[in-house]
Amino acid sequence: MCDAENVSLPAVDIDKRMKWIKLFDTDVPQQEGVWKTKAGGKKLCVVRHVGKLYATSAECPHAGADLSAGWCESGRLICPYHRQAFNLENGRGDPGQGNYIHIYPLEQRGDAWYVGMKESLLSRLFKK
Ligand code: FES
Repeated sequence: MCDAENVSLPAVDIDKRMKWIKLFDTDVPQQEGVWKTKAGGKKLCVVRHVGKLYATSAECPHAGADLSAGWCESGRLICPYHRQAFNLENGRGDPGQGNYIHIYPLEQRGDAWYVGMKESLLSRLFKK
């Protein structure tokens, strides 16, 4: 029998599982909009909405449309194909959609912006 209250889990340093990749030096988009870029071998959307910068997955989970051709409304990224909407803070699709997009963490260091991506188990194992 397991005594759940006395189980201690090892502390996991999330930053060690995260690989930070430079997205922009000083050329950060200042105007509102959606752009496509690549980082860590993945296609991403960079979104500037209400002054805040976001990085999301670029492929719509509904039928694979390119979300960089979409637009933003009320804190949501709208897919250009069938108008499904995804929350820019947590990636959740609107109620009833049952899907989501990935939201990547962004961090500003000086003038540069970095996107955080989880490292795969294999790349962590074979890290030098
Ligand atoms: S492909 Fe995005 S809503 Fe259908």
